[in-house]
Amino acid sequence: MTNDVENWITSGEGQAFLREAGLKEGHQVLDLGAGEGHYTIPAAQVVGSKGRVYALDQDRVPLKRLMEEAQKHALKNIFPVQAQAERLSSDWKANAFDVVLIYDMVHFLEADERADLYRGVFELLKSGGLLSVYPKHNRQDLPMFKLAQLDLDDVAEEIEQQGFDTESRLYRRLIHDEHYDQGYVLNFRKNKPGPS
Ligand SMILES: C[S@@+](CC[C@H](N)C(=O)[O-])C[C@H]1O[C@@H](n2cnc3c(N)ncnc32)[C@H](O)[C@@H]1O
Repeated sequence: MTNDVENWITSGEGQAFLREAGLKEGHQVLDLGAGEGHYTIPAAQVVGSKGRVYALDQDRVPLKRLMEEAQKHALKNIFPVQAQAERLSSDWKANAFDVVLIYDMVHFLEADERADLYRGVFELLKSGGLLSVYPKHNRQDLPMFKLAQLDLDDVAEEIEQQGFDTESRLYRRLIHDEHYDQGYVLNFRKNKPGPS
């Protein structure tokens, strides 16, 4: 683990960022493409013992590292799941999650897979639930793979097409891979309440 990641996790910076995005104590969270847990660990710290974070990744190796890290931090509320994010299990109850995180992952997916992903997430989220996306590697930020031709507005539009309402766009210091980086996180709600 690099000094940046260590600092992100131990200083509370990761937790502060996720709280600002909308995570709260007691939340049920699904972290898709969780990797080694640079967002899973602070998410588990925010939701506390009454909450849970399911860390889903297609690859067993980062999940193993993530669980070693969880143990180091005495976190018992992280549950690893090895699966494809674009084929979310129907074993999970619909409307089960308060928050879904998709950080630095959608650039691996083709357009039809991204549509399946967002549709699946919409089903699993509770009404009013939060979808938070860090679409790294889009046209405006180190373009790569399947997002290279899309800018942030295109990514937001794809997600809105699956029924989500845009809530906010945060430009913040984030962890990307092993280091600090500035980037945009897009936040959406399922059934955002209208102005009262
Ligand atoms: C660049 S890492 C990001 C990890 C973490 N979300 C973060 O931001 O630090 C991307 C992760 O997504 C996983 N991944 C890629 N495609 C996936 C898919 N279709 N389903 C599930 N996981 C996937 C990879 O195995 C990898 O661990």
